[in-house]
Amino acid sequence: MLSASLLSANFAHLEHDISILNRSAIDWFHLDIMDGVFVPNLSYGFPVLNAIAQHAQKPLDAHLMIVDPDRYVERFHAAGVQTLSVHYEACPHLHRTLNHIRKLGMKAGVAINPHTPVELLSDILEDTDFILIMSVNPGFSAQTFIPQTYGKITRLKEMILHRGLSCLIEVDGGVNQENAKALYNAGANILVAGNAIFNTPNITEAIEALR
Ligand code: DX5
Ligand code: ZN
Repeated sequence: MLSASLLSANFAHLEHDISILNRSAIDWFHLDIMDGVFVPNLSYGFPVLNAIAQHAQKPLDAHLMIVDPDRYVERFHAAGVQTLSVHYEACPHLHRTLNHIRKLGMKAGVAINPHTPVELLSDILEDTDFILIMSVNPGFSAQTFIPQTYGKITRLKEMILHRGLSCLIEVDGGVNQENAKALYNAGANILVAGNAIFNTPNITEAIEALR
């Protein structure tokens, strides 16, 4: 699956970009929420998210790069988010947070920073629908892909298959036409792309090329 990160969209013409995505081969809308604390950047909050939700005709995949995400789980659900990921590094009570997300009927994901080993997820895999492996340091779009990601995907895939689980692997950051195939072959199920979709002459063609 492909998830388009709206962080790279044209915020002055969001409805325009969303309508192109609605008609494209994209599967999900990836929404990057940043608080300026967990990551050194701010992105957007509920007013923009609600506006996106009004026009988006595909599932909303929200990636919370914020501390203490438990405070907002209900509001993301009310905004129409279907898949919600929180950072391993930001959740001291991750098991509780994931159960909270699932109880509301959303898919629960755990995002990990580039330095966080996948082995740390061993005791939480049963409680999560997907793992979001960050392939750049979170906070900004258009950064360079970190190649150690391939090994992390392979090791995580082994853990998931060994345990007979159905947990999916999402990869986020620096995904482009050069590395998409290798990421898929390594075991990724969902690829997030921002720069490789929006900073191109033609959004629809960029999505087709990634496919
Ligand atoms: C980074 C975000 C990513 C990012 C992806 O903090 O989580 O979703 O916007 O953008 P690209 O594809 O440009 O790296
Ligand atoms: Zn993201």
